[in-house]
Amino acid sequence: MKVAVVGATGMVGEVMLKVLEERNFPITELIPVASERSVGKTITYKGTDYKVVGLETAVSMRPDIALFSAGGGTSLEWAPKFAEVGTTVVDNSSAWRMDPTKKLVVPEINANVLTKADKIIANPNCSTIQMVMALAPLHNAYKMKRVVVSTYQSVSGTGVKAVRQLENEIAGIEGEMAYPYPIGRNALPHCDVFEENGYTKEEMKLAKEPQKIMDDNTFSVSATAVRIPTAGGHSESVNVEFENDFNLADVRKLLSETPGVVVQDNTDTNTYPMPIYAHDKDEVFVGRIRRDETQPNTLNMWIVADNLRKGAATNTIQIAEYLVENNLV
Ligand SMILES: NC(=O)c1ccc[n+]([C@@H]2O[C@H](COP(=O)([O-])OP(=O)(O)OC[C@H]3O[C@@H](n4cnc5c(N)ncnc54)[C@H](OP(=O)(O)O)[C@@H]3O)[C@@H](O)[C@H]2O)c1
Repeated sequence: MKVAVVGATGMVGEVMLKVLEERNFPITELIPVASERSVGKTITYKGTDYKVVGLETAVSMRPDIALFSAGGGTSLEWAPKFAEVGTTVVDNSSAWRMDPTKKLVVPEINANVLTKADKIIANPNCSTIQMVMALAPLHNAYKMKRVVVSTYQSVSGTGVKAVRQLENEIAGIEGEMAYPYPIGRNALPHCDVFEENGYTKEEMKLAKEPQKIMDDNTFSVSATAVRIPTAGGHSESVNVEFENDFNLADVRKLLSETPGVVVQDNTDTNTYPMPIYAHDKDEVFVGRIRRDETQPNTLNMWIVADNLRKGAATNTIQIAEYLVENNLV
């Protein structure tokens, strides 16, 4: 496979290169792509140096697959140009996620929807991916009615500029700000931009994307997204109301048997998921599983994952692997 990584110098792009290498993705030619600022820079992959190229050059090289993580504007403009020359694009931005002509895929849940005709495939939002990984098996068993989620999102979800802001604040250095306020020793109830309804774009992604991934709009999701000064991964407090009753032992068993999900749940030993330990892991960690005692058939849980791994790079590469394994590219 001739594989282009668009946004190779960014936070997600760097992890993509790492994950491609770890999983030994069948690459015959790697094409690292970034903005004009980075053209000519060197990227090392499996011990070999590659020069970063611009988007136009990359299209002219007609890769089989292009893994995009270079922002929505770049995807909107350039993904169709790659698709036109026969490249299959897997896109990490929000550009195509809610486009009814594009598939939104978490491989463990709905890879079966993919066909050879899909030339632009969307990777869901990082907070959505980790949430649906835990919700999908429970929905199949007990049928969800309503989800209320509050997120505790790491600065790595915003990109390199935000990580630098936190590091600068810790070091007492004045530098460029990614957020409108300090993030160190703070919590910003503001991820992405505000929409007219008073919710942020991130919150609306959490509300809409799960229905598309699970191909079911009989349940609803209400979200509050908060940025906190962690770097390892995103955490989520999730309250789910089901139509049918459950018992907690079955819920734990179901989740622990779900590929890609790890249950860490023992209050006797203070065992629960935390972003510092989810960092650099591909799995989604679930704990604090307990019954909501205020209403019937309702569950509370705490879900943590590395937003740059399962929330972005790993999920993208799993989609690409599925395409290759099923002869869809
Ligand atoms: N961070 C996350 O947890 C996460 C999760 C899921 C999805 N995403 C999405 O992934 C994308 C990248 O996020 P990130 O966190 O990796 O951001 P980032 O660290 O700021 O990196 C952005 C990358 O895109 C490149 N780029 C920017 N403008 C470009 C242009 N006009 N043409 C070509 N390349 C361009 C940059 O190249 P230069 O180095 O040359 O500027 C860099 O490689 C965003 O769409 C984001 O929404 C991020």
